Order: sequence, then C-alpha cells, then structure tokens
Amino acid sequence: MSLTANEVHALKTAPPLEGVLPIFHQRWSARSFSKRDVSAEALRKVFEAARWAASSSNEQPWRFLVGWRGDSTWLKINEILAGTNRTWAHRAPVLILGVAHTRFSKTGAENRYALFDLGAASSYLTLEAAELGMTTHQMAGYDREAARNALGIPEEYSLGTVIALWYQGEPAALGNATLIERETTARTRKPLDEIVFSEWGVTAGL
Ligand SMILES: Cc1cc2nc3c(=O)[nH]c(=O)nc-3n(C[C@H](O)[C@H](O)[C@H](O)COP(=O)(O)O)c2cc1C
Repeated sequence: MSLTANEVHALKTAPPLEGVLPIFHQRWSARSFSKRDVSAEALRKVFEAARWAASSSNEQPWRFLVGWRGDSTWLKINEILAGTNRTWAHRAPVLILGVAHTRFSKTGAENRYALFDLGAASSYLTLEAAELGMTTHQMAGYDREAARNALGIPEEYSLGTVIALWYQGEPAALGNATLIERETTARTRKPLDEIVFSEWGVTAGL
C-alpha cells in the first residue's frame, strides 16, 4: 500500500478525546524524513519545552548534546548508532543525545531519579517538536561505551536516548519494505484496564 506523508500522519494519529491535548495523540516516531531544514529557532523551542519539565528537587539533571548535520557532534552520534537505526536515522538533520547527571549538585548524593527526569524532559521535547510540525524518533539502539568515549561524557552522567529530529517525509523514500511497513502501520497501546489499578492487578475501571 502506497501512502503519502499526510495519510501516514493521519493513520498514526490516535483518536481524539475531548479534554486531552491533541498533541499527545498526534506525536509519533517517524522514520521517513523530508529535506526541510530544522531552524535554530525551532530547535531552541524544543529545548525550551524540555527545560520546563518537573524533576526531583528541581535538580534538572538533563543535559543534551546536539549535533547538526555534518558537524563533529552529529558525525559522532551518527557513528555510534546501531546499524538498524542508522539505516534511516542518518538522514536526520539533527541528532541529539540526552544524558542525566546522577549526583545531586548540592550534596553529591546519588540522584536515583535522574534518568526518570531526563525521560520527562525528553517527552516534553518530542511533544514540542510535534507541536511545531516536526517529528522525533528516540533510540536506545546505540553503542553506549562508544558514545561515552566519542562524546566525552563523564562517568556520573547516565545515558538516555539518541533523538533524531526532522520533518516527516514520504514513506516510500525509506526504500526498504520492512521500514515502509512499520511506517504505514497504525500505532497501538495497552488499554487503561491493563495499566491503571485500584489495587495491584485489579483494574481501576476507568
Ligand atoms: C527509550 C526508547 C528507546 C527506543 N529505541 C528505539 C530504537 O533503538 N530504534 C527504534 O527504531 N525505535 C526506538 N524507539 C521508538 C519506539 O519503538 C516507539 O516510541 C514505540 O514503538 C511507540 O511508537 P510511537 O513513538 O510512534 O508512539 C524507542 C523509544 C524509546 C522511548
């Protein structure tokens, strides 16, 4: 089945529900890309959204390394990607690596919620990108040791995801049947009954 970029976006958008911000249903992780450039202004906005996430003790443990296509950080992030991810992510004009400081800055004590907080900030980033008409794709599939070495990330920072950021493009341009099929399949989620409990294992019935 050959779908256009707009048709894919409609297919990937979850059904709306009154009172739920539409962007939650509209964000999805594309693999196809358009050649449209990402502006510095747009990039600033996605990080502005990320920095207003909540965090344990307001530590804001997240740090983001951002690479623009062709610069040395972009090249290093592209290089550390697992091959299966690089096949499509190498087209991204922006590659970001999120990391989290695992020590509280005031006391040096362990911050066990650092990665949790980075996840929240990363979510804000992806939602703001969607709001701006862009798409993001987070990836855990990369060589973590190589990332530390190549990007000089200190030990006390935990590694989060690599985030590809771009404007979604035509799925056919992916040029690989498996990727095109993934790109043109509707998203699924567990029902609330399976994830919200009133007691352990007992659905809250919402
Ligand atoms: C922590 C994390 C790691 C992920 N790693 C990868 C990855 O290595 N490769 C990939 O293709 N997608 C990866 N994804 C994307 C997920 O597969 C995707 O978010 C999930 O299937 C739900 O789809 P959606 O984001 O379009 O709603 C990752 C997402 C997250 C949050």
